[in-house]
Amino acid sequence: MARRKKIYEGKAKILYEGPEPGTIVQYFKDDATAFNAEKKAVIEGKGVLNNRLSEYFMTGLNQIGVPTHFIKSLNMREQLCKSCEIVPLEIIVRNYAAGTMSKRLGIDEGTQLPRPIVEYCLKDDSLGDPLVSEEHIAAFGWASQQDMEDILSLALRVNDFLTGIMYAVGIRLVDFKIEVGRVYDGDFQRLVVADEISPDSCRLWDIETGQKLDKDVFRRDLGNLTDAYTEVAQRLGVMPKTSTPITKPTLIN
Ligand code: TYD
Repeated sequence: MARRKKIYEGKAKILYEGPEPGTIVQYFKDDATAFNAEKKAVIEGKGVLNNRLSEYFMTGLNQIGVPTHFIKSLNMREQLCKSCEIVPLEIIVRNYAAGTMSKRLGIDEGTQLPRPIVEYCLKDDSLGDPLVSEEHIAAFGWASQQDMEDILSLALRVNDFLTGIMYAVGIRLVDFKIEVGRVYDGDFQRLVVADEISPDSCRLWDIETGQKLDKDVFRRDLGNLTDAYTEVAQRLGVMPKTSTPITKPTLIN
């Protein structure tokens, strides 16, 4: 018996139709991918951790007046969200140089940036999510000028919020990616933070030791990813210190 209709299956999540019109259910899988899905693994427990962490961040954002698509958690792997039309951009905020910015501009990883820098990539796996300028976004109509003002404001508010809660538990927020979606309210549309916020889409470094606690552990083979995400969840107090969902990753190709 089909439980509900699958709308879309991505690399780390499955979206199902929600119980009410205008809602969807996000199911967090254990699959990890990197380098545009050239590297893949199933990492037991990752979906549960990301569901819990994303719930924690989105709930906090809702509480401080930053609108998100998150409605409520349903179980260990699923959350109920408002259905929205995703703006086809990956919105990246950087506080320290790392990853592609370091490669592209020759800046050492870990260099503090003079101010948070916001970048936009086109959401298109077949093109490898290329960096695009606001000129491209306006010319090709991916978002309007008003959308871009709203996106910048959302991105910087999310950055301040996440930087603060991470700093409080000894973690440096190096960079992160968000996606935004359009929610329609009668004739009005507004932009909300959508998708997920988790260590899959952030760079998180221990402030004291520099230890990486994010998906770079998987990308760069630095150890056990579940251990790293569990550490983040435990420091934030969203997972009891006794829980040990720790297993070795299984490479599937
Ligand atoms: P970036 O350094 O541009 O790319 P990469 O992760 O390939 O080195 O990424 C900046 C941050 O944004 C990093 O925390 C990962 C996140 N990100 C995603 O989660 N998904 C994406 O598609 C992109 C482009 C970035």
